[in-house]
Amino acid sequence: MSLVKLSNINKIYELDAGLTFQALKNLNLSIEKGEFVAIVGPSGSGKSTLMNLLGLLDKPTTGSYELDGHNVAQLRENTLAELRNKKIGFIFQNFNLLKRTSALNNVALPLIYSGVPRQLRIERAKKALEEVGLADKLNSLPNQLSGGQQQRVAIARALVTNPEVLLADEPTGNLDSKNGEEVIKLFQELHKQGRTIILITHDRNIAKSAKRVIHVKDGEIL
Ligand SMILES: Nc1ncnc2c1ncn2[C@@H]1O[C@H](COP(=O)(O)OP(=O)(O)OP(=O)(O)O)[C@@H](O)[C@H]1O
Ligand SMILES: [Mg+2]
Repeated sequence: MSLVKLSNINKIYELDAGLTFQALKNLNLSIEKGEFVAIVGPSGSGKSTLMNLLGLLDKPTTGSYELDGHNVAQLRENTLAELRNKKIGFIFQNFNLLKRTSALNNVALPLIYSGVPRQLRIERAKKALEEVGLADKLNSLPNQLSGGQQQRVAIARALVTNPEVLLADEPTGNLDSKNGEEVIKLFQELHKQGRTIILITHDRNIAKSAKRVIHVKDGEIL
């Protein structure tokens, strides 16, 4: 059983005046547990649309999505949100960290939503920060960290709930090449430890660091 299985997915956005735009066209994609996959394609090709579907942030117009054996294509928003918290760890281009909050508390935050008691939240956040090599930065605020370190905090935050899938949209887009490489190395280590990683990028060089590269163009997989 694949961890992720998209079958005949179509995504049609409704524009003004009854116009529509089809951003994904009859897309089929399976990803196995433990894979490190890059999804690459030019601007406007549908990468973020696909990420939003994979991450349960949006629903396809038609088609089926099986995540870990559950059919999730047309679930209600509150059920989706619950699954999203449990199964998906998001990493974004701009880190999305809380500014006046320490690295430790940023990482511990998602555990509040899953009802983990405070002491355990702190322990697990510490462990996640150790995993990304930031054991010495627990109390640093985001603006006291380099871009690469901030992204590693964001990766720790994605890991802390122990999700089935790490979904990263242009995670190196705001980083210089050295920090970008470090983040990619971290993904490769996490992959070796058995994590499932889906990396979305327009950068073919970054994409090469994954084990499998999927090319998207005009809403289709090539
Ligand atoms: N909410 C929306 N309403 C209408 N059209 C949309 C919407 N979101 C995206 N689109 C269109 O769908 C297409 C795919 O957009 P998407 O954001 O998925 O591209 P992308 O591959 O992530 O691009 P980039 O590399 O620039 O981030 C684009 O033509 C875009 O204009
Ligand atoms: Mg995008």
